[in-house]
Amino acid sequence: MDPWEAIEEEIRTCRRCPLHAFRRNAVPGEGRRDAEVMFVGEAPGRVEDETGRPFVGAAGKLLTSLIEGMGLRREDVYITNIIKCRPPGNRDPEQDEIRACIPYLKRQLALIKPRVVVALGRHAARTLFEAAGLKWRSMAKDHGKPLAAELWGVKVHLYPTYHPAAALYNPRLKESLERDFENLARFLKGKRRGTLLDYL
Ligand code: URA
Repeated sequence: MDPWEAIEEEIRTCRRCPLHAFRRNAVPGEGRRDAEVMFVGEAPGRVEDETGRPFVGAAGKLLTSLIEGMGLRREDVYITNIIKCRPPGNRDPEQDEIRACIPYLKRQLALIKPRVVVALGRHAARTLFEAAGLKWRSMAKDHGKPLAAELWGVKVHLYPTYHPAAALYNPRLKESLERDFENLARFLKGKRRGTLLDYL
């Protein structure tokens, strides 16, 4: 079986943690399977649970417009979450749930091998920093800075930024998020130019 089909089927039928009992749909992720940029959110929300697609509610609309603001389309990147099922009432994911679910993200990352992994929000950032053996401080200190890291054997740049849902209700966070996406676009352009020069 194609490895992507296998992962998505396993996620859709997963019972590794109690969240399976509450879900309507698990949400594996979507986008380019050779994307340069992978976005990792926290967990599906209500609309994501209903549709089986990541970031399609209000926070997703903001994320999509930020991606388009970088001159990319949603289809050019890969979008997923740390955990693939919605926690009841959108509560924070628990450590056991993250531990049970993280092997899926690890397999997705190994297939995509993105250059940049954008951690959306502190739960994603903390989980990914710890997985890379890095100390997570806080979003206020570390947002918007690409950090070279090795994540499960894949060399990436980790890029933490605020969660779009938090920015929906806080204009100051929204401004920071927009600036982080502008910096990310510059970083990606710089990296592309660097790669091209390597071949000249
Ligand atoms: N918030 C997330 O963290 N992920 C989604 O997919 C939607 C909202």
